[in-house]
Amino acid sequence: MLSYLESAILAAKTAGNFQREKFRSSIIIREKSPANLVTEVDIQSENIIIKVLTENHPSVGFLAEEQHTSEVKASAERWIIDPLDGTTNFAHGYPLFGISIAFERDNIIELGVVYVPILDEMFVAQRGKGAHLNGKSIKVSHTNHLKDSFLASGFPYDAWTNKDNNTKEWENIIKSVVSSRCDGSAAIDLCYVAAGFLDGYWELDLEAWDMAAGSLIVEESGGQVSLPDGNIFTPYQRGVLASNGLLHNAILEKLAR
Ligand code: IPD
Ligand code: CA
Ligand code: CA
Repeated sequence: MLSYLESAILAAKTAGNFQREKFRSSIIIREKSPANLVTEVDIQSENIIIKVLTENHPSVGFLAEEQHTSEVKASAERWIIDPLDGTTNFAHGYPLFGISIAFERDNIIELGVVYVPILDEMFVAQRGKGAHLNGKSIKVSHTNHLKDSFLASGFPYDAWTNKDNNTKEWENIIKSVVSSRCDGSAAIDLCYVAAGFLDGYWELDLEAWDMAAGSLIVEESGGQVSLPDGNIFTPYQRGVLASNGLLHNAILEKLAR
């Protein structure tokens, strides 16, 4: 039997290979709600992941975005899965998307895996054991002035109507930094903070499967993770601010305005 980590990596790679094959091919796309897309590849990827994980760990539960949430909501051990983070990108042939799988035991995230198929980037963290990209240890950046920083964020699907649509926060931040990005994949943004490719990332309205794996990857690479108002992070509270730690307070201050 594979370890939890080996299983998560195998599941992410298998789904990632499938997504690479389907990328820029003709696929069925529909709206879950206005502007919130789902494709047949999201659903099939989740099936692939669940199959690999169940074969290896039949008693572990699931919290998965599309279809496979276990009935017992708070199983002592469960996988938290986003089978395709960045669906809007994927559906448009834009190459930034990935698979996010976390393993939670007694409400603590113990491991996280994020795989970016087009770039063949495998981000992995185990609690207390550091974070790695394709087997090499990663660390957050050393940028310590907001004016020198490179940040990312994202906007909710219901931005047209949601009053917490992040536009005010975005406006405050872009006036203070070198540049900022909206990449369209929360899981990848978190990993890019972990690897020092970004200095920070925030978003206000996310789900546990967007953040569970990536938040541990940031913590294990020496970064800081909180809620966007500075309170203690949990993946169940819809928002996140992740940074290299050095910039955390400066970003919090801008978000609070
Ligand atoms: C979305 C992405 C996006 C974020 C959205 C998420 P999905 O996930 O992470 O970057 O801005 O809020 O819902 O729907 O592509 O899995
Ligand atoms: Ca997602
Ligand atoms: Ca998704």
